[in-house]
Amino acid sequence: MTSSAFVPSRRSDVAPFIAMDVLSEAARLEADGRRIVHMEVGQPSAPAPKAALAAADEALRHGRIGYTEALGVKPLRHALARHYKRTYGVEVPIERIMATTGSSAGFNLAFLAAFDPGDRVVLTAPGYPAYRNILKALGLVPVEVEVGADTRWSLTPEHLEEALKDGPVKGVLVASPANPTGTMMSADALEDLIGYCESRGIWFISDEIYHGLDYAGEQKTALEFSSNAIVINSFSKYYCMTGWRIGWMILPEQLVRPVERIAQSLYISPPELSQIAATAALDAVQELEGVKAGYAANRALLLKGLPDIGLDRLLPVDGAFYIYADISRFSSNSLEFARQMLHQAGVAATPGVDFDPVHGHEFLRFSFAGTHEDMKEALSRLSAFLK
Ligand SMILES: Cc1ncc(COP(=O)(O)O)c(C=O)c1O
Repeated sequence: MTSSAFVPSRRSDVAPFIAMDVLSEAARLEADGRRIVHMEVGQPSAPAPKAALAAADEALRHGRIGYTEALGVKPLRHALARHYKRTYGVEVPIERIMATTGSSAGFNLAFLAAFDPGDRVVLTAPGYPAYRNILKALGLVPVEVEVGADTRWSLTPEHLEEALKDGPVKGVLVASPANPTGTMMSADALEDLIGYCESRGIWFISDEIYHGLDYAGEQKTALEFSSNAIVINSFSKYYCMTGWRIGWMILPEQLVRPVERIAQSLYISPPELSQIAATAALDAVQELEGVKAGYAANRALLLKGLPDIGLDRLLPVDGAFYIYADISRFSSNSLEFARQMLHQAGVAATPGVDFDPVHGHEFLRFSFAGTHEDMKEALSRLSAFLK
């Protein structure tokens, strides 16, 4: 057999996640002794809540950490049902609740259970790049719809009408608050879009990973509008548990068993230790609201400070911990601009091309999930850099 036979599959040819590449470059500079302010990855600087750490500690000392049911342990699923009642006033039976290995595993499972190879799934551009990469790797077709100021960076039924002209659409994936824009859909806009999908038999997938991190506007779960919506969420952001790799899904009844079967073979179960810690994290509201107050202070600082130094075209920051800034006054090459900013100012941010291949060369995403001191330092370094 010639060595040319041993080549990667075509489906593996997905784009790199540039935010992670920026992180690696920043790490190289740090290894050379440079101090870098990190605003490139969406990762809370706070640790997991104390109650979560204590629960994990206790489990490590006394328990055997093993496999669990593929859907997750019952205490976590019960705690999540209580969370939906408390937060949104929605009753969700635990049979429809599933713990996952981060929301990332949730996307894989949902896509596999709802779609067949070649199915078209609508996403927004700008949007979280892993959506399109996962879809492509699974042999599905991402249909990226450019959204802008006219619809407040949200997808509308009119966008879907347009997408349907090019072929059938099997699914729609929306995040509110969104990454990278930080914008949120109004309750009416969400209801309209879900109603449109419902009436046409289009799966609606709602990425609610930034729920809890809202600064303006009302937060609604898709479950309030449809029992066919697939809701994906995570302990990574509000709960500060990125490295624990734990998330959850609320599934329509008819998808529970298919997803469970696929999960049994793909992952066996989510990590038990993380499920135990996550159960405790759901009650750590006071501590987590303190962390959120820190993001709100960072947001206020940057919304005042960035315009003062020339970055005055910012999208509305309704939620999450991102500022998506139009840098076209300074550059039309966000990759090169981010590289210079990293090397000269020691501030790492993510070029918009990660999120939007069409207009992203004129945008940078700044994460304000770091400390207040870091945000102040970033502003003073950027002020010198942009002069
Ligand atoms: C919008 C969005 N969804 C999903 C994820 C994946 O998160 P995790 O797999 O840690 O739950 C991220 C991570 O940044 C994100 O920004």
